[in-house]
Amino acid sequence: MSNVFSEIISFIKNIYKDKDIIPLHEPTFKGNEEKYVLDTIKSTFVSSVGEYVNLLEKKISAFTGMKGAVATVNGTQALYLALKISDVQPNDEVITQPLTFVATANAISYTGAFPIFLDVDKNTLGLSATELLNFIENDCEKTGGVLLNKKTKRKIKAVVPMHTFGHPCEIEKIAAICEKYDLSLIEDAAESLGSYYNSKHTGSFGKIGILSFNGNKTITTGGGGMLVTNDLNLAAKAKHLSTTAKVAHPYEFIHDETGYNFRMPNINAALGVAQMEYIDEILENKRKIAMQYKEFFKNIKGVQFVDEPENTKSNFWLNTILFNDPDDKINFLKTCIENKIMARSIWRPMHLLDMYKENYKNSLINTEFLYNSGVNLPSTPVFTS
Ligand SMILES: Cc1ncc(COP(=O)(O)O)c(C=O)c1O
Repeated sequence: MSNVFSEIISFIKNIYKDKDIIPLHEPTFKGNEEKYVLDTIKSTFVSSVGEYVNLLEKKISAFTGMKGAVATVNGTQALYLALKISDVQPNDEVITQPLTFVATANAISYTGAFPIFLDVDKNTLGLSATELLNFIENDCEKTGGVLLNKKTKRKIKAVVPMHTFGHPCEIEKIAAICEKYDLSLIEDAAESLGSYYNSKHTGSFGKIGILSFNGNKTITTGGGGMLVTNDLNLAAKAKHLSTTAKVAHPYEFIHDETGYNFRMPNINAALGVAQMEYIDEILENKRKIAMQYKEFFKNIKGVQFVDEPENTKSNFWLNTILFNDPDDKINFLKTCIENKIMARSIWRPMHLLDMYKENYKNSLINTEFLYNSGVNLPSTPVFTS
């Protein structure tokens, strides 16, 4: 396999010619980022009040086709807020996938509910609609209008599928199941800005979607996130809770419930507004990299490139390959480190982490296969001008 590794390493080095160290995904600032950030400094509006926050919300709302958008300090807290306003309570259960970044499970835990783990599909890398339906039909019962997990006797309140590495999961089927069983659908679209299922933006299929603008994402605000929804009452509720539940008043500080300080600062939003001005170009260049990888891996034996699933357009946030032999995965990662290439293993699945290993799960064959074989490759878009 070492010849194959050398071929892959040379290919990556050729894409990122000018780099000594090749990161997994780094931000590009080639627009009005500096100008807008300086604007916030000059105006003194660097904190959570300011026009850039409102402007970023408008831009994301228009881009995703969602009526409401609420900017937050990060994607994790956007997800926590989304669960909170969907009435997820301590001791409830929330169905999610084990193959995700830890923030998905953590945000569920912050509410006092238990994340429970159902398997993903091999081709989408996201929550399997078949597994979801099997679990509800065979392992749950409806009592007094609520869905109970027969084994744990806990209420199932919500489903949080995640669009892994930007590839949309079977979200239409999942949405239909949630509708049928009256479960809140909250999409973790942290990685999938610019990804579509049947031409509809990810995050827009259920009650609420969330996005992340962390430094490694398709666009960045430094740190930041967004909650998107078509329900304007929910958007208003999220905004109120994220701004310490402060009631508008000319001079008094009145707060009508226990709120949070989760509003995105204006200085961060300024970066995001500048990035949104050329998001189409970012997405186009990311797709170009993905197509180069796809073409290249057609001729590489023992390795499979993860393509966008049928009926979807992926943003290819992180390009992923699967090694037939798990030993090759580890050896390849070691070779990348030697070559200063920051390729990374797919996340260790949630059910294998100490804090979640006792949580309810079903058979997770696909998740374990993907973890044992999957590697993310450098995916920063390359700009020629
Ligand atoms: C799947 C997923 N969910 C949630 C998050 C949390 O977003 P943030 O880092 O903005 O808190 C991330 C990314 O970081 C993510 O990849």
